[in-house]
Amino acid sequence: MVEYSEKVMDHFKNPRNVGVIEDPSGTGKVGSPVCGDIMELHIKVDGEGVITDARFRTFGCGAAIASSSILTELIKGKTVEEVAGLSNEAVVEALGGLPEVKVHCSVLAGEALRKAIDSYHEKRKHI
Ligand code: FES
Repeated sequence: MVEYSEKVMDHFKNPRNVGVIEDPSGTGKVGSPVCGDIMELHIKVDGEGVITDARFRTFGCGAAIASSSILTELIKGKTVEEVAGLSNEAVVEALGGLPEVKVHCSVLAGEALRKAIDSYHEKRKHI
């Protein structure tokens, strides 16, 4: 049986920032090639480049839900530049660790963030 940290269980049972943002500044939707689970991240960015809101919907395991939830907490209030290099290792660390077989779940969070930031930059080109 897989052992989870208290933090993982907390974010799995009480996920923060679930949902969608109307008219988001950027969106990232990714699927895991390992298990087929899906994560979608929406970000709202103000004129100064600060992420003022982040919401997610994840159709996946507990570790994926906990990873998405803590990701939103890690990026809210920071600038896009500050979080651009945020890795899945940072997500794992913030969760107090993940079992080896569940590390791929945190990879989804890193990829969703990367895609959301790319989509934010792409949208800005067309303003
Ligand atoms: S088992 Fe698929 S994301 Fe965790």
